[in-house]
Amino acid sequence: MADTDDLSAGGRFEPTVPARAEISRLKGSTALDWGMQSRLARVFRPETGRTVMLAIDHGYFQGPTTGLERVDLSIVPLLPYADALMTTRGMVRSTIPPTSRTPVVLRASGGPSILKELSDEQLAVSMEDAARLNAAMVAVQVFIGGEHETQSVHNMTRLVDEGQRYGIPVLAVTAVGRDLTRDARYLRLATRICAELGAHAVKTYYCAEDFDTVTAACPVPVVMAGGKKLPELEALTMAYRAVEAGAAGVDMGRNIFQSVHPAAMIRAVASVVHESVKPEEAYDLLLERGE
Ligand code: R5P
Repeated sequence: MADTDDLSAGGRFEPTVPARAEISRLKGSTALDWGMQSRLARVFRPETGRTVMLAIDHGYFQGPTTGLERVDLSIVPLLPYADALMTTRGMVRSTIPPTSRTPVVLRASGGPSILKELSDEQLAVSMEDAARLNAAMVAVQVFIGGEHETQSVHNMTRLVDEGQRYGIPVLAVTAVGRDLTRDARYLRLATRICAELGAHAVKTYYCAEDFDTVTAACPVPVVMAGGKKLPELEALTMAYRAVEAGAAGVDMGRNIFQSVHPAAMIRAVASVVHESVKPEEAYDLLLERGE
């Protein structure tokens, strides 16, 4: 029999106190459904609205990459320092411990290898499987100006439709072909197209001039891509300038896992992204921790 002895109406209704309504500060997300906002809050720290995403999905088109030969040895120890891990479902199921609390941003497009035309991608993961893997977000490559531009945009829009059904946000990754210039004009075009067509966040490269116009023109969070390995101070400076110019954090791979001190480097990046620590100071911290 149910214990109903101390059931009463209670008195703490506080009728004069307005209901609390905490609205997400993440750009462009206030009208999204609860599941979407909740997943975005796992990737982008609510306190700063920024993320330090660790990208290790390179193998999906280029095989074992320097620093990723053994993800179990090189990457798993870095997970506690990453706000999110961008990776493939194969790597998640085979190597990433399910006990990790770091949310997964799941690579959801693929097809061609580095031996072929890279823009010829198709969707490579169903949203159902992304949900099964507890993905916080899915990522799709978009090749604006590339040979298979329309197909890649269509991949993204189909993924957005599916993401809306499941409450899983989509990160559009703007891939810049070799013959395209990574200037603000191009990046504005690419990021804006992705956002207009439904991406919930966009990953794009940094450009030294007018990057603030790229972030300003994009109505959803822009995450800075890392790119090829740079000396650590240069990479930290690029991250610093990107967030100062409005980026909602970074999605870095080689500049972290190819560093001589990957754990110290990701922590240095996090101090720049979340605490606005100056790059020189972050670099000093890196040297101290890397010893
Ligand atoms: C880029 O298009 C892919 O997402 C990459 O595999 C990865 O995210 C690149 O990371 P990074 O350039 O920082 O090494």
